[in-house]
Amino acid sequence: GAMAAERALAMATCTAPVNIAVIKYWGKRDTDLILPINSSLSVTLHQDQLKTTTTAVASRDFTEDRLWLNGAEADVGHPRVQSCLREVRRLARKRRGGSEDAAALSLLSYKVHVASENNFPTAAGLASSAAGYACLVSALARLYGVEDELSEVARRGSGSACRSMLGGFVQWQRGERPDGTDSVALQVAPETHWPELRVLVLVVSGEKKQVASTAGMQTSVETSPLLKHRAEVVVPERLAQMMHHIRERDFEGFGQLAMRDSNQFHATCLDTFPPIFYLNDLSRQIIALVHRYNAHHGHTKVAYTFDAGPNAVIFMLADTVDEFVEVVRRSFPPATNGDRFVQGLPVGSAVLPQELVAAVVTKPVPGAVQYILHTKPGPGPQLVDDPSQHLLGADGLPRRRA
Ligand code: DP6
Repeated sequence: GAMAAERALAMATCTAPVNIAVIKYWGKRDTDLILPINSSLSVTLHQDQLKTTTTAVASRDFTEDRLWLNGAEADVGHPRVQSCLREVRRLARKRRGGSEDAAALSLLSYKVHVASENNFPTAAGLASSAAGYACLVSALARLYGVEDELSEVARRGSGSACRSMLGGFVQWQRGERPDGTDSVALQVAPETHWPELRVLVLVVSGEKKQVASTAGMQTSVETSPLLKHRAEVVVPERLAQMMHHIRERDFEGFGQLAMRDSNQFHATCLDTFPPIFYLNDLSRQIIALVHRYNAHHGHTKVAYTFDAGPNAVIFMLADTVDEFVEVVRRSFPPATNGDRFVQGLPVGSAVLPQELVAAVVTKPVPGAVQYILHTKPGPGPQLVDDPSQHLLGADGLPRRRA
């Protein structure tokens, strides 16, 4: 009928954020369903600086499902992509099951085209799979009109992706059930809860070669007794403490615990056999710099955390940003891109007191930090209404990129 004709082509575009864990997820108890051995907690970063955009189109004219990532066609048969597609379609069928909406049902029988793009370089080594799968699931859900709990679906793309389904401060609850229905993301507090919190991403130079998270954490589960102790004893205590620090907006407590948890995660990597190294010499220099800076001020003003790579993510309150950025600039002077060294939210200039320089800045290493991205906590996935923002055209193919 007329309704079905109207729905011959349906399109939805969403954006989704990156998140950075302050209580780390490392290790699965079920590798198919992606169920973790411990709960984790993260901060969702603002999409003005870091986001993925995804357009999903369904049409009766399509002969196969297709996927484009950053403009290049990619394998839509990837098991994790398939698992997200299957789950969203299953929820859509469940939802439409009793209804008379033939158009919606026929939409479900159509093939889909999906295009996804990051507004930041993949080479920057920033966790793009979390934003990517959160965005895929959001766009597909919108396409099919699904409004259920979706973090459980995003989790099947990448564990950390379930936390990108919400803004602000987010817990991924480990869950108890073998089917994973209680292994979901829950918001601890929205981004508006702590407006002074700021985040600097220090993108370090050098090779990006590393052990992928999925493979690395499985080796850790099989070989590291420290990881077992961490999951059973340490994380349950820390999770409760971290939620308390966030509720109280206690930066010292939050920052110290974030640093300790990052360090313990990297300790479990060293405890893995054969060992895995994600931090490099520069990461360790940044860690030492942060501790010297805090020691000079006599309290925790900045706090680092590192995921499965050498880039540092540093938390602080807004009133510390200008001074700390200047400390980084003095310690790791830009090689060539002096004007593009600091990106994202504005950073003011700062004059460093001589005692601070003497105590904190030791022999500068030029070019070691590629650039600094200044951002803050932000909201969860967003629906994009503006049709000019769709990544796929009416023919279902990628539009020429600006
Ligand atoms: C170190 O979510 O990328 O960033 O579930 O296998 O896709 P898979 O792994 P992934 O692992 C993230 C690990 C981490 C810590 C964290 O984000 O909690």
